[in-house]
Amino acid sequence: MHWFAAALAVIGARSVLGESDLSARQAALPIPTSCPGVTASTRYKLSAAAGWKYTLVGTGMSKPRGILFDTEGHLLVLQAGYGLTAHTFGADGCINSTKTLIQNNQLNHGLALSPDGKTLYVSAAPTAWSWSYDAKAMTVSGQTVVVRGMNAGGHNTRTLAVPPNHPNLLIVSLGSDGNIDQPTVQKETGRAIVKVFDLSKTPSGGYSYNTQGWYLGYGLRNEIALVFDGNNMVWGVENSGDQLTRNVGGKSVDVHIDNPAEELNYLGDPSKSNEKWYGYPTCWTVGDPSVITDKAFKIGDQFMIAPNATFNDATCAEKSVPPRLSIKAHSAPIDGKFDRNFTNMYVSLHGSWNRQPATGYKVVEIPFRQLEDGSYDPVAPRDSGVAGYSDILWTQNESSCSSATCLRPSGITWHPDFSRMYVASDGTVGELYILYKG
Ligand SMILES: *[C@@H]1O[C@H](CO)[C@@H](O)[C@H](O)[C@H]1NC(C)=O
Ligand SMILES: *[C@@H]1O[C@H](CO)[C@@H](O)[C@H](O)[C@H]1NC(C)=O
Ligand SMILES: *[C@@H]1O[C@H](CO)[C@@H](O)[C@H](O)[C@H]1NC(C)=O
Ligand SMILES: *[C@@H]1O[C@H](CO)[C@@H](O)[C@H](O)[C@H]1NC(C)=O
Repeated sequence: MHWFAAALAVIGARSVLGESDLSARQAALPIPTSCPGVTASTRYKLSAAAGWKYTLVGTGMSKPRGILFDTEGHLLVLQAGYGLTAHTFGADGCINSTKTLIQNNQLNHGLALSPDGKTLYVSAAPTAWSWSYDAKAMTVSGQTVVVRGMNAGGHNTRTLAVPPNHPNLLIVSLGSDGNIDQPTVQKETGRAIVKVFDLSKTPSGGYSYNTQGWYLGYGLRNEIALVFDGNNMVWGVENSGDQLTRNVGGKSVDVHIDNPAEELNYLGDPSKSNEKWYGYPTCWTVGDPSVITDKAFKIGDQFMIAPNATFNDATCAEKSVPPRLSIKAHSAPIDGKFDRNFTNMYVSLHGSWNRQPATGYKVVEIPFRQLEDGSYDPVAPRDSGVAGYSDILWTQNESSCSSATCLRPSGITWHPDFSRMYVASDGTVGELYILYKG
């Protein structure tokens, strides 16, 4: 999980810029193998999986988080503590100009674009705003509050996403205030939830986060990554808890190295209220059953820190929706995107602070498939754990990583022609990579 919380911007790039538009406007932007004046940090070395290559295309950004393409093929980057910038590409495929669209040092992660590309959404901890956007001119106007009154403290990113098939809806994720935020057992606290707002009916002054809109799940500790599958159903990737123990029979055992697992959750159709409970702050996901010796668990099962006479692990199994797949504890998922045909979800793992040896600091690929009923589902069974995905781009010597010394992947987006992914890294020196099959 992730201590400097953050949230993100998600919209399927394919809905923003169709391939035919792209070929007309920007045929075959080359994939550069280096960019003039952009030099790699000496702090760490990367490796890519067989068949994959990467190029550093930008440095010196202020903590880049949400990234996406506009309808003119410009890359928009939400730079935390600075604002929103637009970047154009030269004939060599490298960035050849940068323009500040919004200067606001409260912006810290959230970025989304309406499917028609004409409305931008950005967020700070307490507030989400819309802006009219002219992609050709790269100008914004008409700042408007769309959601207000969000919890100001705790996990402070507010991931934003607009469903490609429901351009009037805005999804806003809000994490817990602290590691174990006990009041969030009531979803009305307005934390550890994902909510949806109909922006065709925004009240003057914006929606009140806690009391308006509908739910897309609760008991979600910090669902930073929100990802649309091929049916525009929403998957959430959750940053789970730190320092957990298992307290049974008067004995407390430290289980935190590989428990609880981070979670890939199915949240479903954002146009309908989902009032299911995903377990937080009571039920957690087993990442390593071997250290919980009082009971036989499988990876992906729900467990309690301290079961009691009226609420125990079996109650969790009954009441809490478990993740569809578990991700290594403390790896801190930040963003995710599917590939063109929805056969893989790519997820950025920002990296750990509560695990020695360290983990994360990489981009992973989670294979998906389409079931007979047309729904999308991970290929791996629920109890697969880390066998359910593989590393695509990683920091060498991952186990000794720290936030100051390694890749810190945050926002991920595909180029509109799916020839390459862009991956932001918000470490000490903000960076931008492309990642592609070579
Ligand atoms: C960037 O490159 C594009 C494509 O070659 C070109 O049209 C544009 O004028 C360039 N912009 C700058 C600021 O150099
Ligand atoms: C048992 O655990 C549940 C869930 O955490 C809690 O609500 C309840 O107060 C606990 N009961 C006792 C007697 O501690
Ligand atoms: C999806 O695309 C990949 C790469 O282009 C290809 O290898 C794979 O067969 C495709 N899968 C489906 C189900 O179309
Ligand atoms: C890898 O980590 C170990 C343990 O911290 C350290 O001793 C070693 O120098 C590191 N190697 C590289 C290449 O960074």
